[in-house]
Amino acid sequence: MLTSLADLEARYRRASPNSRALFEQGRSYTAGAAKGAYYYPPYPLTMARGQGCYLWDVDGRRYVDCANHHTAQVLGHGNELVEAAVREQMQKGIALGAPIGIESEIARAMCDRVDALERIRFVNSGTEATLHAIRLARGYTQRGKIAKFEGGYHGSHDAVEVSVAPPLDQAGPADAPIAVPTAGGMSPSAASEAIILPYSDPEAVERLVAEHASELACVLFDPKAGVLDIQPDFARAVRDITRRHGILLIFDEIVGFRTSVGGLQEVYGIDPDLSCFGKIIGGGFPVGAFGGRADLMDLFDNSQQATGFFQSGTFSAHPVAMAAGLATLNELTPQTIAHLNALGTRLKDQLNALFADRAIAAQAVCTGSVFSIYFARGPIANYRALAATDKTLIQPLFLSLIEQGYFLGPGLGMCALSAPMDPGHIDGLVAAVGNALAEIA
Ligand SMILES: Cc1ncc(COP(=O)(O)O)c(C=O)c1O
Repeated sequence: MLTSLADLEARYRRASPNSRALFEQGRSYTAGAAKGAYYYPPYPLTMARGQGCYLWDVDGRRYVDCANHHTAQVLGHGNELVEAAVREQMQKGIALGAPIGIESEIARAMCDRVDALERIRFVNSGTEATLHAIRLARGYTQRGKIAKFEGGYHGSHDAVEVSVAPPLDQAGPADAPIAVPTAGGMSPSAASEAIILPYSDPEAVERLVAEHASELACVLFDPKAGVLDIQPDFARAVRDITRRHGILLIFDEIVGFRTSVGGLQEVYGIDPDLSCFGKIIGGGFPVGAFGGRADLMDLFDNSQQATGFFQSGTFSAHPVAMAAGLATLNELTPQTIAHLNALGTRLKDQLNALFADRAIAAQAVCTGSVFSIYFARGPIANYRALAATDKTLIQPLFLSLIEQGYFLGPGLGMCALSAPMDPGHIDGLVAAVGNALAEIA
């Protein structure tokens, strides 16, 4: 007899009383959770500590961390060099109200790695990075609208919280999606200023961009690394279309940057006008960055004359985040990235072989070392395909993997591997998925 979701939840509750108590204690002060992404049913595990590729919860259970703080912890937890850099910076000073020199070092390291990056600015989150990149694009082009892809996520400011996961009955035709606001309280202009493009359909992108070219400041492209199966040809088509129509291309590297020394844009062979970064480049501290063409970014340079453009923030380019980020980049050598990507390929191949073996309509999508698991057969190349996947077994699989000591992202989307992992961890995860399926499918 198959194990039900209710049985798995009951087992989860029995195994995590301390997490439950802490959740109950905190929920009235935090409106349910300290942040939206920290909640999943029936209540989230509270973690006590992390080391290497492992996490320990407050009930003393150990997990292989396959989420890695929303993909940010590419080196896992407690990396010695990152911790040493953080300690050293903290001894010198945490926030000194002046540049400390390390900002230029990490700026140079980023520009050395990414061909299309001539200048860069640091902020506190990916959200802030896309906000400033869009503002720059609007100011430079003197046009008000932006285009983004249906299902693409670029953070939580109004301009980009449009058609992130729209209900299909509101989303319009697949090749001409309607702009749907994501959250209550957004400015009505967010949707009216957004043109929504479908992933993996270059003809529709060409048509929509051509139709709106005179009012578009930019096309924002989130490649949905490890979430959608986006082909390099499609990325190159988007670059070609935007260039032909004179529209700035803003490429979101916030998740995909870990795929290669030069980011996912290097893998795709594209040169965006602006790129946005976050997650791994802060070594686990809050960070974001945006940059690209010098003629665009130099509009922020008010040192010679007032340009009318400005970007700043109290904690932008925070010393500790810069130190941790630089140490992380130094550790993220071509060899480390090759190791991570090989683990990703091993996981994808083994999971897909397992699903085929068991004749289960499921698949793993993987870009480098970021992966998702879906219950569906066809390619997951756009938002509509993702929305059509069967969600019934996602939560049972998630809970069963927790029980077996593997902590994935809730929903099993945008999970991530870390450098301390070895093939044994991958084989263990695949075996755990196999055990789970035997129980639930
Ligand atoms: C592709 C992408 N862009 C932007 C963001 C926003 O970054 P942050 O959460 O640091 O604001 C995220 C966050 O998950 C993301 O996945």
